[in-house]
Amino acid sequence: MKKILTKVLALTVIASMAFAFAGCSKKKLVEKGKLIMATNAYFPPYEYYDGTTIVGIDAEIAQAIADDLGLELEIVDVEFDSIIAGVQAGKYDIGMAGMTVTDERKQSVNFTASYATGIQSVIVTEDSPITSVEDLIDGDYVVGVQQGTTGDIYMTDEVGDDRIDRYSKGNDAVLALTQGKVDAVVIDNQPAIAYVAANEGLKILDTPYAIEDYAICVRLDNDELLSDIDASLAKLQADGTIDAIISKYIPADS
Ligand code: ARG
Repeated sequence: MKKILTKVLALTVIASMAFAFAGCSKKKLVEKGKLIMATNAYFPPYEYYDGTTIVGIDAEIAQAIADDLGLELEIVDVEFDSIIAGVQAGKYDIGMAGMTVTDERKQSVNFTASYATGIQSVIVTEDSPITSVEDLIDGDYVVGVQQGTTGDIYMTDEVGDDRIDRYSKGNDAVLALTQGKVDAVVIDNQPAIAYVAANEGLKILDTPYAIEDYAICVRLDNDELLSDIDASLAKLQADGTIDAIISKYIPADS
């Protein structure tokens, strides 16, 4: 009798340990074994198309995280201003899109540790009378932005709706600038450099407008995924993977 009782007890202990183990390694994922990342792939060098493949800093860091977590990465290209809503709704596991951490966004999603710095810059035409952010704000100029980005949010605050033209892609805002439809574009510095290199007659103002932190967002209640990704990020920082990815896309002198 005593023997049976010990056996039963031992089994119960093993069973509950297995349960606890399963419980703590269980993160909520949209699809088992997959990490679904939402991005907006018109944001070089963080995410952009090379043929039909989405490449860039975010794509590579996400791949390294997925590898580390033993998950298959799937990248979905959506409108930038639908990423957070989709993560909240449980359509995507993560949002990764050169996304700036803001207090307002923190009401809707959680952010991992930051993996890169962003700067809001002003692009104008080479012959523009605008020489500073103050000129842009004080004059009667129209500003092109990507809808829902921090550039949109800050500039709308600064100059009001009437002087903002919103585009669904950053490159459409830049196109509008080359066509004289807007007087300036406010956008993150690295895409700004790429766009100015790709279009003649444009320049970036020397004075940066705002400095920001980029991070990955996850659903507010998905603490397991958040801490798993933070652990991966820490590992990839420590072993130099993140630095290597960033310097592959951003040469040291830019
Ligand atoms: N950093 C800015 C923000 O978070 C712009 C990001 C735009 N990203 C993109 N993949 N289009 O609002």
